[in-house]
Amino acid sequence: MHSGIVSPQGVWWKPAAKPERRWVLISLVWCLILFAMMPLWHWKGGQNPSGIRGRVDPAVFSERVERFNKQYQVGEDNGIPVVQPPPGSHAYLMGSQFQWSSVLKLEKGAKYILHLSSQDVNHGFSLYPVNLNFQVVPGYDYGLEIVPNQAGEYRIVCNEFCGIGHHTMIGKVIVVEPGQGHEPQPKGGAK
Ligand code: CUA
Repeated sequence: MHSGIVSPQGVWWKPAAKPERRWVLISLVWCLILFAMMPLWHWKGGQNPSGIRGRVDPAVFSERVERFNKQYQVGEDNGIPVVQPPPGSHAYLMGSQFQWSSVLKLEKGAKYILHLSSQDVNHGFSLYPVNLNFQVVPGYDYGLEIVPNQAGEYRIVCNEFCGIGHHTMIGKVIVVEPGQGHEPQPKGGAK
């Protein structure tokens, strides 16, 4: 029996045995391999994009989003503006409890800088069904260079628990063929 007062019987103060040292070495090597995989995925696997990052005041980002929405709005979907920025432009998407600031309409094959941020708490940007995942953090502008490569409708599912309405926080991204859908649609009639 041992306790906090009576020290345990053992030989822990003696040098580690050979098998133990071997396992420590194997663990260390494996840690280094996994560590090296992170940059490797970035350069070789097209994952872990570095993006453009910076600090931003949530109020300032919110204003930017509003300006962006007003400038490029082409319709409305359940009270959410449908926004179609021109190819090559910066797009701003903000998460807040419990919605996304717009339905983005993007052109296939065009390049955009997508800026993600949050107005209140941490949210998660999870694009379905393609399984792209990014953090949406208040006070932090996460700019991603994106080129949509397939036309269709995508869902943005919030994958970070953000409060009581978390499960209802579902947004939409629409990717259209080049040159399509630029004509403004009547309010409430957008699909
Ligand atoms: Cu936003 Cu969960």
